[in-house]
Amino acid sequence: MTIDIRPIEPEDIPAIVALAKTTWLDAYAGIISSGQIDYMLAQRYARAGLETDIENPGKWLHQAFIDGMLAGFAACEICKGEFKLDKLYIHPAMQRKGAGAALVDHATALARGQGYPGMILAVNKNNARAIRAYMKYGFRVRDKVVTGIGGGFVMDDYIMEKPV
Ligand SMILES: CC(C)(COP(=O)(O)OP(=O)(O)OC[C@H]1O[C@@H](n2cnc3c(N)ncnc32)[C@H](O)[C@@H]1OP(=O)(O)O)[C@@H](O)C(=O)NCCC(=O)NCCS
Repeated sequence: MTIDIRPIEPEDIPAIVALAKTTWLDAYAGIISSGQIDYMLAQRYARAGLETDIENPGKWLHQAFIDGMLAGFAACEICKGEFKLDKLYIHPAMQRKGAGAALVDHATALARGQGYPGMILAVNKNNARAIRAYMKYGFRVRDKVVTGIGGGFVMDDYIMEKPV
C-alpha cells in the first residue's frame, strides 16, 4: 500500500467537496444535528471557499491518496500566531489505513519547517474516534472552548496540541 500526499489544485476541488460531505455525514451523525452539519458544510466546504483557500499563501491544503485513490485531505493555517491543523478528513472507506497519520506527519513537517514549536487543533468533545487518533499522533488536550459560529450553532471543542 502506498500513501502519497499532494497539494490540492483547483481541478481537485469538486472531489474534495464530495469527500467532505460523505465524511461529515458519517463522522458527525449523532454528535451534531443534521442542520448544523449542513450549515458547517456550506460555511466551510463550498467550492468557492475552498478555491479561495488554496490561493491563500497563509493556508496549506493537501490531499492523501492510497494506491492512487483519493483518501482524504487536510488544511493548515496560522491562527493567532499558532500553527493550526484546521481540517483533517479521511473518507469512511479509507479510514484506519494510515492516511490521517501521513497527513499529520506532513503538517508536522510544515510547522517545523516554518519554525513553529507546536501544532494545535480543535476537535468536538464527543468525536471519540478522532480524539483517539489525535492522542495516537501525540496531541494532548490543552483547553476546552465553546465557540458560536452563527445560525444559532456552537462548536463544543477541545483544543489539542503537540510539539512538532
Ligand atoms: C480521525 C481520522 C482523521 C483518522 O485518520 P485515519 O486515516 O482513519 O487514521 P489512521 O490510520 O492514521 O489511524 C490512527 C488511529 O486513529 C484511531 N482510529 C481511527 N479510526 C478509528 C475508528 N473508526 N475507531 C477507533 N479508532 C480509530 C486508531 O487509534 C488508529 O490507530 P490504529 O488503527 O493503529 O488503532 C479519520 O478517521 C477521519 O477522518 N474521521 C472522520 C472525520 C473526523 O472526525 N475528522 C477529525 C475532525 S477534527
